[in-house]
Amino acid sequence: MQGKDIEKILISKEEITQRCVELGEMLTKDYKEKNPLVVGILKGAVPFMADIVREIDTYIELDFMDVSSYGNQTVSSGEVKIIKDLDTNVEGRDLLIVEDIIDSGRTLGYLVDLFKYRKAKSVKIVTLLDKPEGRVVDIQADYIGFNVPNEFVVGYGLDYAEAYRNLPYVGVLKPEVYQSN
Ligand code: PRP
Ligand code: MN
Ligand code: MG
Repeated sequence: MQGKDIEKILISKEEITQRCVELGEMLTKDYKEKNPLVVGILKGAVPFMADIVREIDTYIELDFMDVSSYGNQTVSSGEVKIIKDLDTNVEGRDLLIVEDIIDSGRTLGYLVDLFKYRKAKSVKIVTLLDKPEGRVVDIQADYIGFNVPNEFVVGYGLDYAEAYRNLPYVGVLKPEVYQSN
């Protein structure tokens, strides 16, 4: 069981479900008169993307993009590589980027600039989690599920070495799990 590696549950399945309903109501209102393309960032955003779009009650289209950060933490900001690009032309579209977490802000800093360069009409961000203490690039989400402290969080899309994404809650990983590797 993966649950044995979790020190404490930070955000329960029920809390996530409730927050998705609330965010979905806001997004439904804000995107009613628009031409939205909802962009999920692989792979972390997949569980949140699946839940949030089913709470948005207006016309939307979906697409996905996969990016990865170049190198390590010591590399300066914004070095991001496209692994899988969108299938959709974003020119004139109202983009809503869906993320599981904003930490340094590098991933979203790069993506927001890219989509503006590609002439999106508007670019907004909905993130399940925000970790403000991790920020290196000045970027803010427009819709935030929960703030999290500067701890090693996993679950509901967030991984450690690709594991734990399928946990139905967000939890803090026991230090011995990542210290033993
Ligand atoms: C994680 C997370 C965000 C990003 C946040 O993705 O899902 O996309 O890092 O970090 P940042 O704000 O410091 O850029 P990761 O690149 O690990 O890929 P994954 O989603 O496939 O796990
Ligand atoms: Mn990610
Ligand atoms: Mg990751």
